[in-house]
Amino acid sequence: MFQEIRIRLAAINTLILFILLALLGSVLYTFTYHQLYRNIDQMLIGIANRTQTEHYIKLLTEKGAGRAVEHRVISLLWDKDGNLHAQIPQDAFSAADLVNFKTNPSNQQPYTLLIAGHNYRTLSRSIPLEEDLANLQPDLKNVQMIQYITNIDLEAKLVRNLMILLLVMGIAGGGISLLAGFFLANRALIPINVSWNKQQQFVADASHELRTPLAILQSQLELLLRHPEQTIEEESIRIHTVLTEIKRLGRLVADLLFFARSESNQLELEQSRFSLYDLINTTTEQFRPLAEIKGVRLNVFCESDLTFYGDQERIHQLLLIILDNALKFTSENGLIELRCQKSKKAIKLELEDTGIGISEHDLSHIFDRFFRSDKARSRVQGGTGLGLAIAKQIVEAHHGQIWAESILNQGTTIHCVF
Ligand SMILES: Nc1ncnc2c1ncn2[C@@H]1O[C@H](COP(=O)(O)OP(=O)(O)OP(=O)(O)O)[C@@H](O)[C@H]1O
Ligand SMILES: [Mg+2]
Repeated sequence: MFQEIRIRLAAINTLILFILLALLGSVLYTFTYHQLYRNIDQMLIGIANRTQTEHYIKLLTEKGAGRAVEHRVISLLWDKDGNLHAQIPQDAFSAADLVNFKTNPSNQQPYTLLIAGHNYRTLSRSIPLEEDLANLQPDLKNVQMIQYITNIDLEAKLVRNLMILLLVMGIAGGGISLLAGFFLANRALIPINVSWNKQQQFVADASHELRTPLAILQSQLELLLRHPEQTIEEESIRIHTVLTEIKRLGRLVADLLFFARSESNQLELEQSRFSLYDLINTTTEQFRPLAEIKGVRLNVFCESDLTFYGDQERIHQLLLIILDNALKFTSENGLIELRCQKSKKAIKLELEDTGIGISEHDLSHIFDRFFRSDKARSRVQGGTGLGLAIAKQIVEAHHGQIWAESILNQGTTIHCVF
């Protein structure tokens, strides 16, 4: 089910990582390339500009054009007809190489030449001080252009190596981003998978719980139909069973709706300040007759001025759930005690009973949906195991905590702190 999403997520992750790497690589390459070539071009332009001075020309001519005036730079002197007049330093290039150098008077920008496997950066400039040049050395009077050349094999190699390195890194990066893409996609899917499995389990449990009362209803109604001559009085037990199961179904549907709503964050609390004392008293009064029938004592201790800020309906539901459990799991001559008090920071609510208790193993599961201990399961009027899960959601929606303490066969205490 998640395979397609996983692949799609991985592909998107990989693509993003790969684009980022490619962008980074090209920025690095372009920056290095331009930085290197800019330095060389600046050097060539600097020399060309200095050449315009008389001093330089003197230097160039008087010294007999015997040495390079600038480190790494070779100057070629071209005449009007495009013939080479001289090269400085002498014999820098062989005659065969020189054929490849040609000046282009209209191109005054540096450019790159590849000659006999070597890379050169070159810049040509015409000589404005023609007269001076002629005065100083009549021989040079025909010289019109000076071409400045520097070998850039080192830089070209550097740029080439950088390109190879970036390509290798790009391929490796592509592989790594593919793995990383799958890893990230897997990580991203873990919580989705967990909640999907939970949801699946929930639906399975819910349909199972719905099936039981439906089966009972069906069988009871079929039995009723088999004897149409019987009076309602005669069939009252069967009708009572049908009604009980319908009630059970109604409650179950309401509980499922509660979870469906809280799952989609629709559990909206209608918060207001209300008297917790009044709410506790009215709720426990509802239970008193039931407790009396069962022969269970019900004690309530609550400060009369206790108020609470929250959803009164939901807190009422919480009290019903825990009181229902206490009464359900406490037998004759038992005691149920509800205590509520306010400390400086929090409101504490405790419900203690002297009922059947919960084993250590079960204690860690009682807030799970559909959990019922084996004892609770075997009881005739057993619930669905959703009560405490709902209670937990209500308490947490009010930013509180709920937990239970219990000793098997002695009793249970449910603690809520808000
Ligand atoms: N006061 C208690 N004493 C002993 N066991 C309890 C008590 N409260 C809860 N339990 C155990 O925890 C289980 C879960 O309680 P929960 O209220 O969620 O479900 P339920 O009461 O069985 O069903 P429902 O509340 O949906 O009618 C119970 O089945 C029971 O085993
Ligand atoms: Mg319950």
